[in-house]
Amino acid sequence: MLTQDTRARIAAEVRKYPQPRTALLPSLKLAQRDAGWLPPDAIAEVAELVGVSSASANELATFYSMLRTRPGGETVVEVCVQLPCALRGSERLLAQLAHGLEIAPGEMTADGRIELVRTAECFGSCHRAPMCRLNDDYREFLTPEATDALIRELRSGGTNGRAGAHAVADGTASGTAVIEAGDPRGAGPPGETAPSPHGPDAQNGPDIMTRGGAA
Ligand code: FES
Repeated sequence: MLTQDTRARIAAEVRKYPQPRTALLPSLKLAQRDAGWLPPDAIAEVAELVGVSSASANELATFYSMLRTRPGGETVVEVCVQLPCALRGSERLLAQLAHGLEIAPGEMTADGRIELVRTAECFGSCHRAPMCRLNDDYREFLTPEATDALIRELRSGGTNGRAGAHAVADGTASGTAVIEAGDPRGAGPPGETAPSPHGPDAQNGPDIMTRGGAA
């Protein structure tokens, strides 16, 4: 059920590592991009491509909350409420988003376009708190004003929450920094490029990922 492109990318991941199993996590993330989540058939297909058992692949897919084993909103807005973000107003951010989107955390809009998630998962962007993740993109420094702009953007439907998703993190899209996960620009203030062990890039390793679903 995976696209040929995804299968080729997974094959390339497998070739990167001495132990093919190491490619399992990035391969599952690639597979998730196809359908937005990981149906059992997709997990089984990834397992076959990587050369591990379906049980092993399923174990990993259900361990990390950023891997989704059930269908969700087209745009998933995950608000980090870990302590550093909490100290910078994550509960206010969550409440403002819930009010603006007219859904409670854990719910999805009636059209299935937007899902709001409260998560205790640290996204490694504590120094840019409060923040949330829109699918694979980060929205940071979410002041009340920036949050209002984000809500307008999400509600407009025209951007699907991804306007400027690949833009340089200069805060021009909605008054917030917009950084794709894995982009080393997430290391410092907007415009800086120095890598950081706590930046979004760290998500590629299991050490920064936490288990469980939304808190
Ligand atoms: S605590 Fe929220 S990103 Fe780290």
